[in-house]
Parts: sequence; structure tokens; C-alpha cells
Amino acid sequence: MSRRPVIAGNWKMHNLQQEAADLTNGIMQELRAEDKAALPEVVIAPTFTALYAANKALKDCGCGKVRLAAQNCYFETKGAFTGECSVEMLKDAGCEYIIIGHSERREYFGETDEMVNKKAVKILAEGLVPIICCGESLEQREAGVTDYHIASQITKALRGISAADVAKSIIAYEPIWAIGTGKTCDSVEANRVISMIRNVVKGLYDANTADAIRILYGGSVKPATIKEQMAQSDIDGALVGGASLTADSFAQIVKGAM
Ligand code: 13P
Repeated sequence: MSRRPVIAGNWKMHNLQQEAADLTNGIMQELRAEDKAALPEVVIAPTFTALYAANKALKDCGCGKVRLAAQNCYFETKGAFTGECSVEMLKDAGCEYIIIGHSERREYFGETDEMVNKKAVKILAEGLVPIICCGESLEQREAGVTDYHIASQITKALRGISAADVAKSIIAYEPIWAIGTGKTCDSVEANRVISMIRNVVKGLYDANTADAIRILYGGSVKPATIKEQMAQSDIDGALVGGASLTADSFAQIVKGAM
């Protein structure tokens, strides 16, 4: 089974509207000469207030090479949930993907495995693609519980979701100690954990579903690291933080995944 690579840029809490438009336009400019069919799926995830500006830039360009994601959502459809955004609202804003369960949301905003599961269910019900994040802390790694922890996160995130929906989903393995630290996880080790995740999906579902789901690596991905990461058997792309904030480095990562 050949899985189409995905390169997603998580802008986190960066970029005002004009900056978001400029970065979006810059990325499309960098990818202008590339054949669309040869590109990986390219996704950008601006913050809520910049979604409109980024979506407008994407629509004005019309090249269809870059797609929009949100960094979070709420699992209820509407109602008295001050400060939250529903999946339907994000779809209305042009999003096709939503990142859920990022370690920063788990750590600073109390996102639990149960919430990640409810969000995944809702995102898939609305026809969007969840990018489900998982990852271990340095303490967990040193205590030797990485695989146990990741398997538990994934099993809980996927509870009640059909094989067909899981096959459409994306998982991002992001070791917390590699995020924003410049300390990339060794590619062979990242591939080992990602193969383990695929095996968990196989156990919960079947070989076809495990073969279909795209599993990305995230954590200090840079233009210099992407080729080696993409050369691994089970790494299907990258969720990029810091290096997605300039058009040049993000485009280099995209091209490194071709
Ligand atoms: P960095 O690429 O800045 O390490 O961030 C990774 C990340 O958290 C993407 O979601």
C-alpha cells in the first residue's frame, strides 16, 4: 500500500492576519513550479483568528496545492460553550483537517484522551480529517514506558471509530522532549515507535486499516532532517512547528518529502 505523504505546518500561537496571508502566499509561491500530483498533501494550521486570511489567500491563488487545518476544536455542535469553536464552524472557515490532542493542549489546557476521542468522532462525522497527536515525555521515555503510553493514547483516541474512518485519519507521533527543543528524535527510533502505533491499529482493526492510516513524525523537523525521516518505512510525513513559520523552510521540507 502506498500512502500519500502529508506535510503539515502547525503555526501554534503565531501570525496576525496579514502575516498569515503573507506566509500562505509565500508558501504557494515557493511551490508554484511543482507538479501538484507529485506534491505531498500540504497542510497549514493557522490560529483561529488567521483562518479567514489564510483561507482567502488559498482561494485567491486557486492552485489547490495547500489545504487548511485548525489547531483545535470542541466536540459539541453549538451552544453555551464560551470561547470554543465547533467542527462545523471550522469547516465553514475552510478547514479540512483539525489537529487534536497536541501535547501543549494536553499540558496547558487539560485536554484528556476522552476529549481527544470525542473530538475525533465529531471531526469524522463532519467529514473532516483529524490529526491525532500522541507522544511521551522525557520522564516516560527514561522510565521505559513510551510504547505503553503511546499505545494507550491511541487506543483511547480511536474508541468507537469505524475502520473506514480510522483509515482516513492521520496520527502524529510527537515526542514531547523533541518539540521546540531542536533535539530531533533519531529517525530509526521514530520509525520504530510509528511502526508500533501501526501495529496497535492493526490489533484494534485489521491489516488494511493499519496500512492505510498516515502516521507523521513531529518534533524539531527541519529541512536538514526530512529526507532521512521520509526514507523510513513507516513515517508518512511530518507535523512541523517552528520550521513551518517561514515559507522557505516549510517549502524545503515539503520538497524534501517528494
Ligand atoms: P517544532 O517543530 O517546533 O519542534 O514543533 C513540533 C510540533 O509541536 C508540531 O505540532
